[in-house]
Order: sequence, then C-alpha cells, then structure tokens
Amino acid sequence: MSSRFATVVIGGGTGFIGNRLKNAFAAISSKVVIVSRNATKDRMSWTDISKHGIPENTEVVVNVAGLNVLNPMQRWSSDFKTNVILSRVETTKILADAISKCNSPPKVFITISGVNYYQPDGKEYTEYDRVPVFDFFSRLCKDWEEAGNLPEQIKTRRVIIRSGVVLGNESGMIATMRLPFFAGLGGIVGSGKQFMPWIHVEDLTRMFLFAASNEKVKGVLNGVSPQIITNSEFTKALGKAMNRPTLIPLPEFAVKLVFGNERSDMILKGAKVKPKRVLDLGFEYKYEKIEDACKQLV
Ligand SMILES: NC(=O)c1ccc[n+]([C@@H]2O[C@H](COP(=O)([O-])OP(=O)(O)OC[C@H]3O[C@@H](n4cnc5c(N)ncnc54)[C@H](OP(=O)(O)O)[C@@H]3O)[C@@H](O)[C@H]2O)c1
Repeated sequence: MSSRFATVVIGGGTGFIGNRLKNAFAAISSKVVIVSRNATKDRMSWTDISKHGIPENTEVVVNVAGLNVLNPMQRWSSDFKTNVILSRVETTKILADAISKCNSPPKVFITISGVNYYQPDGKEYTEYDRVPVFDFFSRLCKDWEEAGNLPEQIKTRRVIIRSGVVLGNESGMIATMRLPFFAGLGGIVGSGKQFMPWIHVEDLTRMFLFAASNEKVKGVLNGVSPQIITNSEFTKALGKAMNRPTLIPLPEFAVKLVFGNERSDMILKGAKVKPKRVLDLGFEYKYEKIEDACKQLV
C-alpha cells in the first residue's frame, strides 16, 4: 500500500493514546518519529526538537504529551500543578516553534486538549461555544490550545481535539475500574449525576487520522461520542457488560480525600458536550453507544 504521509511526528507517542496513534499512523506513513523525555535510537527528545527542529519531510505533527493529572500517588501540590501545565503547554510550544522555523512546514498540526474547557453547568456545549476561563483546568485547556498557535504566514492546518474520558483497555478509566468492578465493588462515583463525556480509544484514534487526512478539517473538534451520558449510566453499562453488580458507591468525600478538592472536580463534575462539528464534517463513529463500547472493552 502506498503511504499517505511521509514522516509523522508524535509528541507523547509512548503513552496510552500516543501508542495507538503511533500504530495507526505507522500503517499509512513512511516513518513515525516519537518525541519523548527519553531519547533512544527511534525517539527524539524535546531538546532535540528545540535544537534541530522536526525531521525533513514531516507532513503531520501531533502532540498528546502530558503528565497524568489523576495519579493518586501524587499530591495536588503547586509543584505538581506546574508540571501538569509545563508537560502540555511547553511541549506544544516546542512543536509550534519548530513548525514555524521549518523550511517546508507540515500539512497539519493536531494537538489534544480536554473537555474541561467547558463549564459543568448542565448547559449543552458544542465546538461553536467560546467559554471564558472559570477554573484551573479550563485555564489549562485554554493555555494548552493557544500554545499551538502558529504565525499567520505558516499555512499548516491547525486542529485541536478536545477529548472526553478515553475508554480503552490499556490504561485510563477502564483499566482503573476493571478490578473493583470484577470484584463486585463497582458503583457510581459521587452523585453519579455528573455528565461523563467519553470516547472509545479506537474512535479517538480514527478522529486523529480523519483530521490528518481531510483538508477541510481545521479548528476545534470535540473528541467525544455523540451520546451524552452520566456517570451513573456509564456505571450501569460497564457493570452489565462485565455481568457484575454496581451497588457500592464511591462517595464524594473519599474522592476528595485522595485527589484534593480542585482535582476532584475532574471526577465529580462533568460538562454536557456534543461533537457537533465532528458530525457536521462527516466523521463516522464506530462506537456511538456506551453499551457497545463497554461490551467491546470487556
Ligand atoms: N486518557 C484520557 O482519558 C484523556 C482525556 C482527555 C485528554 N487527555 C490528554 O491526552 C494526553 C495523553 O493522555 P494519555 O492517557 O495517553 O496519557 P499517558 O498514557 O500518561 O501518556 C502521556 C505521555 O506524555 C508524556 N509525558 C508524561 N509526563 C510528561 C512530562 N512531565 N513532560 C513531557 N511529557 C510527559 C509521556 O511520554 P514520555 O514518558 O515518553 O516522555 C507519556 O507517554 C494527555 O495530555 C492527557 O491530558 C487524555
């Protein structure tokens, strides 16, 4: 099969989402180069990119780097918060700078961001809504997205995918919940009424490929399934797919004890987010219903 792209550069290509992207792009590209904190024979470091730029013939640049915010072993300290910001904003800036200095800039620059951009106030949001900063995570999303801005004279297409909770077996929410659910200890988190924008990792990967391959795709895409669900509906779907009861709730105070007040908002609150532009652009989901996604995952 002939390659659709020459070289593809993926920041954070060693992680859960990045590894999926690496495999998907490798199937349709001549070469995939990972950017990581640890350079190896096949990986460039962030310093390499700052010093030497992106490789010649790079047609697609992606950034999905970012320190894990929900690591329960990490206290929500100011140092940790700074690293959470730097790992997203600085890596994106390094790639944007490298693109700006390129003799032959890539066709497209795609970065990930989060649905924490939107207010968890019950109102329905689409990509067409501009939301003023209202908390730490919405500020993070705004700065992260703006870090990828390119000078006007650079004609590289810029795409931002604001992702919801990514469901996949390797890592993230499903991997964390599998054992307690299997042991019959699953249940709602907090009130269970909070919205939970979600996407199957396969659909998120396909959305990155869709954005890379379609010249008409520019700007923000909400990386979420069209089906709006709550935490309680997700809990039921996962329990049903695993054939396990979901009667043991995880109370709000326990979440706050582990994660601290500010960070708990990521778990205890959720915005009502629709992927209107994604659908308008003609993207087709493989997993639109949470029941189908959970069945596939277990
Ligand atoms: N998973 C989700 O549900 C979800 C939802 C919305 C948005 N996102 C965002 O998507 C991105 C990828 O998520 P993921 O689940 O794939 O995370 P992951 O598995 O933890 O991978 C993140 C990658 O970021 C790099 N990284 C970690 N700490 C870093 C630091 N301090 N400085 C620079 N790079 C660092 C790591 O690469 P090296 O170790 O090779 O440097 C790692 O491979 C993150 O920015 C996350 O916020 C994820």
